[in-house]
Amino acid sequence: MARPCVLGASALPEFLQSPLEKDFEFHDRLHKKDPAAFAEIAPRIRGLIVGGGSPVTKELLDQLPALEVISVFAVGYDKVDVAAAKARGIPVSHTPDVLTDDVADLSMALMFNIARQLPAADRFVRDGNWAQGAFPLQRKVSGARLGIMGLGRIGRAIAKRGEALGMHVGYHSRTRKFDVDYTFHDSLNELATASDFLVIAAYGGPSTEGLVDESVLEALGKKGYLINIARGSIIDEPALLDALEQGRIAGAGLDVFATEPGINERFLSLPNVVLAPHVGSATWQTRQAMAQLAHANLEAHFAGGKLLTPVPES
Ligand code: GLV
Repeated sequence: MARPCVLGASALPEFLQSPLEKDFEFHDRLHKKDPAAFAEIAPRIRGLIVGGGSPVTKELLDQLPALEVISVFAVGYDKVDVAAAKARGIPVSHTPDVLTDDVADLSMALMFNIARQLPAADRFVRDGNWAQGAFPLQRKVSGARLGIMGLGRIGRAIAKRGEALGMHVGYHSRTRKFDVDYTFHDSLNELATASDFLVIAAYGGPSTEGLVDESVLEALGKKGYLINIARGSIIDEPALLDALEQGRIAGAGLDVFATEPGINERFLSLPNVVLAPHVGSATWQTRQAMAQLAHANLEAHFAGGKLLTPVPES
């Protein structure tokens, strides 16, 4: 029997692409590389696999009349028009759980890096400044107040790490969770007021767009730090840049940006930010586990079964 035809809609790592090429008739970004060849095979494409940063629009879906399944190689699927897929009965999967630890680890790393100013400390040693005097004192992390926006899988993993550091953990999410002892705050402003470190761990997409606005940053205040490992869209970035430039918050540790990979240049000259290039899940171990899961979702579908990890709306 002919192998199902699958389109890779974004660049994928070799350890994902090789098994896809073995098990499917796989076409790597043909819609971008060779539109004429794409037009020929488009009617036969039954599966689509894509990283979290690449849009899957209704326009693309409309070009794929035989499409049956979309596998997202990421936990966040805010770039996929899930409603358009659902309207056609096309299920969508993502890769939750396997990346939770890495993303939670990175949020703590950003917290330590910005609070203890480790990038500046590294430069201080390399530049030979140590002999002239000690590095300035910095902010303690252990025992501080940790606020988490979004208490899903990743938010909970961050909370556990905070607990291990003796932090006082509070959270804000759409619904109160009754299986945890962390302090629930009705509003994001209230959480920000009660936090030394406010970590954003919510889903992206229209429902959370711009929720961290000027008033939340004011509530976080001059001594507060913002950490974002979720999506850049959740933060009103111009308001954040103003607050950082004017010292209205203490600092930020950011792995995600509104316009990534091209980020607002105002970030680059700020001493009170630590910047990372969206590397929350970027370890060999985790990306390989994500690759296996993204591949297994396609296999499960084509074997006639249900997706292993469908997105909640699917
Ligand atoms: C990364 O941001 C992901 O959604 O997996």
